[in-house]
Amino acid sequence: MSDVSQEALRRRTFAIISHPDAGKTTLTEKLLLFGGAIQMAGSVKSRKTTRSATSDWMALEKERGISVTSSVMQFPYDDHIVNLLDTPGHADFGEDTYRVLTAVDSALMVIDVAKGVEERTIKLMEVCRLRDTPIMTFINKLDREGRDPIDLLDEVESVLGIQCAPITWPIGMGKRLKGVVHLVSGEVHLYEQGRNFTRQDSTIFPSIDDPALEAAIGAPALAELRDELELVQGASHPFDLERYLAGEQTPVFFGSAVNNFGVQLLLDFFVRHAPSPRPRATTGREVAPTEDKLTGFVFKIQANMDPQHRDRVAFMRICSGKFTAGMKAFHVRSGKDLKLANALTFMASDREIAESAYSGDVIGIHNHGTISIGDTFTEGEKLSFTGIPNFAPELFRRARLRDPLKLKQLQKGLAQLSEEGATQFFRPLMSNDLILGAVGVLQFDVVAYRLKDEYGVDAIFEPVTIATARWVRCGNEKKLEEFRDKNAMNLAVDAAGQLVYLAPTRVNLQLAQERAPEVEFLATREHA
Ligand code: G4P
Repeated sequence: MSDVSQEALRRRTFAIISHPDAGKTTLTEKLLLFGGAIQMAGSVKSRKTTRSATSDWMALEKERGISVTSSVMQFPYDDHIVNLLDTPGHADFGEDTYRVLTAVDSALMVIDVAKGVEERTIKLMEVCRLRDTPIMTFINKLDREGRDPIDLLDEVESVLGIQCAPITWPIGMGKRLKGVVHLVSGEVHLYEQGRNFTRQDSTIFPSIDDPALEAAIGAPALAELRDELELVQGASHPFDLERYLAGEQTPVFFGSAVNNFGVQLLLDFFVRHAPSPRPRATTGREVAPTEDKLTGFVFKIQANMDPQHRDRVAFMRICSGKFTAGMKAFHVRSGKDLKLANALTFMASDREIAESAYSGDVIGIHNHGTISIGDTFTEGEKLSFTGIPNFAPELFRRARLRDPLKLKQLQKGLAQLSEEGATQFFRPLMSNDLILGAVGVLQFDVVAYRLKDEYGVDAIFEPVTIATARWVRCGNEKKLEEFRDKNAMNLAVDAAGQLVYLAPTRVNLQLAQERAPEVEFLATREHA
């Protein structure tokens, strides 16, 4: 097998999806621990201010107690290379999260045992559905009283519409938590309070029939467990690899992230069964991860990660081939070769210069605005990866300057910040307004803060009567021109120069659609 195939096959690239507070950050830390990244990884948010912010505008993130940026962590485990793509936790940053989910091969869903399926879990799950992303589930906070495990599985099945296959099963919970049973191996792993689980380090019994187990957990707990297991086996589904890979079944684990309990059982199962990089669709053909030539697409842009270097980093997910430091790659959109100098990899311990990377890995490419979200890189072939969406924003503001002489900087700032994908920037055809659109209201604060911090521009954002936006497309040039003339008042161009209809009300949008049936109004724009 070629070097490229072998490396691709041992990659596991995934993201954690959860409602805020379910324990995503805590679980991430524990996973990194198993990967040997003992020190607190710089990319994991620090709740206890043990770490100073890496750039000034992240102070905003700290103030708000949210994670604005998403990052990438790579660690080796059990002969595999695991890439964990962090998704921003706050509900306001949905769009960024969606795009991260286009760059992974599977996902891990974290659910709070007391809260069950929450609103954001449902939304994220819908996104995973679009690509049939395989999902494993971790039910967290078992050290606290929570809901009945069977009820929780029922809820996952009925609300999220995915079959559950429990792999571990809890023995008690809260103060009565004794451990978990591994339903596939039969082993019982004890939870021992007060032990510092820096790595998984518990007493293990080979089966529930082991005579020593009764002494360890007590006869009543064991009897209860036997009854429950009978019930579970009757009511749930056995693990089916194919159904899992098709996104139809989720293997379920129980544990406590903060106590590092049940986490290694999850990780072991994950590296064994989660998919390695899958083939990806492009405009031309499907690209297999084992192909020799490098291909990849950009799913995220981030500015000023390091305040010393005020450039931007484009995060590229590699889809095939091998990246080597300093190589040239073909930037399909511009039709030019770009030298991928000083690309970053994301080993959990620290960012470092990439020597080589393979399908499933993410590299960070420094640039000054030449690279946009959705861009494809190849070794010369003209193809573009599809399915990286830009969503129509729901909230709009007009940018107004306190100092009119700074208009140039404002335009530049808005355009560059919108390249990162969290906000979108529109220029109406008939006015000089600068309109910013976002999916969440917090993004306007972030933009105002960064405009000041990074561009020295003091701007305020004032309300504007725009209810929604739709990208406009029409195969018939003449009809499009007609439409443009008639609706110029409500038309704008986005940062990429695409025509967009800004509707003052939903009713207006409906009327416009009815009057121009030959024109398509799109709620998402695929990055082309
Ligand atoms: P998030 O990234 O999904 O938002 O969740 P995060 O890991 O930040 O966890 C949210 C809170 O839940 C944290 O408490 C964390 O310590 C706690 N937590 C995580 N896993 C467990 C668990 O297994 N059991 C229990 N009991 N709690 C857990 P916090 O009070 O916000 O922060 P901290 O002061 O405890 O650090």
